[in-house]
Amino acid sequence: MIKKPIILGIESSCDDTSAAILQGKRILSNIVANQEIHQQYGGVVPELASRAHQQNIIPVVDTAIKHAKIKKEDIDAIAFTKGPGLLGSLLVGSSFAKSFALGMNIPLISVNHMQAHILAHFIDSGKKMLEFPFLCLTVSGGHTQIVMVESYIKMKVIGTTLDDAAGEAFDKSAKVLGLTYPGGPLIDKYAKNGNPDTFTFSKPRIKDLDFSFSGLKTSILYKIQKEIVQDPNFIRENLEDLCASIQHTIVSILIEKLQKAMQRTGIKQIAIAGGVSANTYFREQLGLLAKTEKFSLYIPKYEYCTDNAAMIAIAGYFKFLEKTFTTQRESPSARLSF
Ligand code: KG4
Ligand code: ZN
Repeated sequence: MIKKPIILGIESSCDDTSAAILQGKRILSNIVANQEIHQQYGGVVPELASRAHQQNIIPVVDTAIKHAKIKKEDIDAIAFTKGPGLLGSLLVGSSFAKSFALGMNIPLISVNHMQAHILAHFIDSGKKMLEFPFLCLTVSGGHTQIVMVESYIKMKVIGTTLDDAAGEAFDKSAKVLGLTYPGGPLIDKYAKNGNPDTFTFSKPRIKDLDFSFSGLKTSILYKIQKEIVQDPNFIRENLEDLCASIQHTIVSILIEKLQKAMQRTGIKQIAIAGGVSANTYFREQLGLLAKTEKFSLYIPKYEYCTDNAAMIAIAGYFKFLEKTFTTQRESPSARLSF
C-alpha cells in the first residue's frame, strides 16, 4: 500500500501558536498554545505576540510530533501560514518552516490563512464531505467574508466587511461591558442565560452582500452610558440579557446576508468557518434555518473553528498533491488576498 503523505502544519498568524501533523486527510495531532498575556491589554499586542510565538514554537512542534507518534524524519512536507495576519507573528512561523524544510530537505508549502479556515471542512471526520460549489461564511477576529468555493483552489469573495470583522464586533462589545479579551466566548457564555429580545441595537443598512459592524459598538456604548446615569450597576444587573441581545444582533446580521447570498447564487450548500463559527447561538440559529429553508449546513468541529494548524496542514496537503511548493525566498504577507 502507498504511504499517505505526512504534512506538518504551522500556524502563527495572530496570537495562537499551533502545530499539527496530518496523514492524508486524517489528523494525527493538533497542538495549540494560546497566549494569555493579551487578556490584560484588552486585545492582541503584536510585539508580545511575536515574542510568545518565539518561545512557543519549538515546544509546540515537538509536542505535535510526539502526540502523532511519528519521527520528524517521517514528515514529507511542511506547510505554514503566509498571511494574512500580524507580520511579526507570521515571521516566526515562516522562519521556522523554512529552516525545518532546509534542515530536513523536504518541500515547503505556503498557505493562505483564510483559505485554510475554509479547507478545514475537508479534514477527515468520518462525516459526509462537502461538495463543490458551496458558500462559506468565514467569520473571525480579522475577517468577515462570504466566499463562493468552486474547488480546493478556486475561491471568490462575494461579500466582505467594510470596517470591523464579526469577531471584532464581539470583542469590542465585550470590552464595553468590561469583559476581558477575547470577549466572543464570554458573550457566548453569559448569553446562554439571557433574553435576546431585552435590548435592541440598530442594524446597519449595507448594500449587496457586504457587512458593517463599527456602528454596533457605538450603539451599545450610547445605550450603556444613558442607563448608567440612572443605575450605576446597570451592566452587572443586566449582563446576561445584554450579552444575549448583542449576540442576537450580530448573528442576525450574519444570517440575513447569508440568506441573501443563497438567493443570489442559487447555491444551497452552506459552510461556516473561523473563530465566530464556534458561537453556540449562531450554530443553533443556522441549524434551525437549514431545516426550514432546506439547505445543507456544514459546521466544523469546535477545535477547527478558531485558529489551528490542522487547517494549515490540510490546505498544505491539497497543494502537496498538486506539487505546488514554494522556495526559501518566500516571505510572509500581512495583507494577503485570495
Ligand atoms: O479565527 P480566529 O481564532 O482568529 C482570527 O483569525 O481572527 O477568530 C478569533 C475570533 C475572536 O474575535 C473571538 O472573540 C471570536 O473569534 N470567537 C467567538 C467565539 N469563539 C471565538 N465569538 C463568538 N462566540 C464564540 N464562542
Ligand atoms: Zn483565523
